[in-house]
Amino acid sequence: MSGRWLPSQVSSSVRVVMTALKVGVTIGLGSLAAATAFAQQPQPAGNAQRGAEVASTCLGCHGIEGYRNAYPDYAVPRLSGQQAQYLAAALQEYKSDARQYPTMHLQAMSLSDQDIADAAAYLAGKPLAAPSSSASAPQVPQPAVVCTSCHGRDGIGVTPMYPSLAGQHASYIARAIQEYQTGYRKNPIMNGMVASLKPADITAIADYFSSLKPGLHTESRPFFRWTR
Ligand code: HEC
Ligand code: HEC
Repeated sequence: MSGRWLPSQVSSSVRVVMTALKVGVTIGLGSLAAATAFAQQPQPAGNAQRGAEVASTCLGCHGIEGYRNAYPDYAVPRLSGQQAQYLAAALQEYKSDARQYPTMHLQAMSLSDQDIADAAAYLAGKPLAAPSSSASAPQVPQPAVVCTSCHGRDGIGVTPMYPSLAGQHASYIARAIQEYQTGYRKNPIMNGMVASLKPADITAIADYFSSLKPGLHTESRPFFRWTR
């Protein structure tokens, strides 16, 4: 937003931020508990080299830029640069069916904890580096302000359990938000965060985060196994 803000805009944004902080503190504690519970189960350290073997079948979808899920139509998520710990947690949820998605359940169900840690380390690749200057950063749209407390102003998750959204496909971000809204995708933090977003807010949020650089990307390495 350019130009001066009207006092009413300022006070309403202050209210939004204050609410965000309160919500953030309350759910932050819950998520801390969840993250601690996850961390308390000894999670194996990921070996990216071994992960390349485990994850070679994954690249048939995740290694092709712009590959889309046939129905419903949205882009398969970008994984390169994502937080490895978040990827491992997501795979555990697909495996247990806590996150319901039949294709990914089939992919994850035969993976051991070690396989999951290794595949996550490999697929995550190099972590996203924060942009060196915020001078050219786009303005955060109003409905996305509250999201940046966990997903970062630069779209990089502020803890390893908060997924990065920078550079993620807009169609995937929008789809994920809608799934949290309907409760199809269950997460105590996210279900509350997105409850009141309108379709126009979702579009603005998805466009904002997907435009951020440096961002997640698709490491195009299909047929890795055969060409190596
Ligand atoms: C047939 C295509 C296909 C294959 C093969 C596939 N995936 Fe996926 N993957 C998807 C789709 C589509 C989604 C988004 C599902 C959803 O909305 O929950 C996804 C989601 C994910 C996510 C969650 C990402 C996020 O941002 O939350 C992870 C992690 C993942 N896949 C890892 C893997 C791994 C590891 C393998 C191989 C063992 C694999 N995938 C194989 C299509 C595929
Ligand atoms: C208190 C921290 C917190 C806040 C604030 C927050 N999120 Fe999240 N977000 C999370 C966590 C934790 C997850 C992973 C949840 C899961 O495993 O399903 C997540 C997941 C997501 C995902 C799915 C990413 C993927 O790769 O599948 C999207 C999209 C998302 N958030 C968007 C938003 C938006 C939009 C807002 C603001 C309206 C927001 N988040 C606010 C913590 C937060």
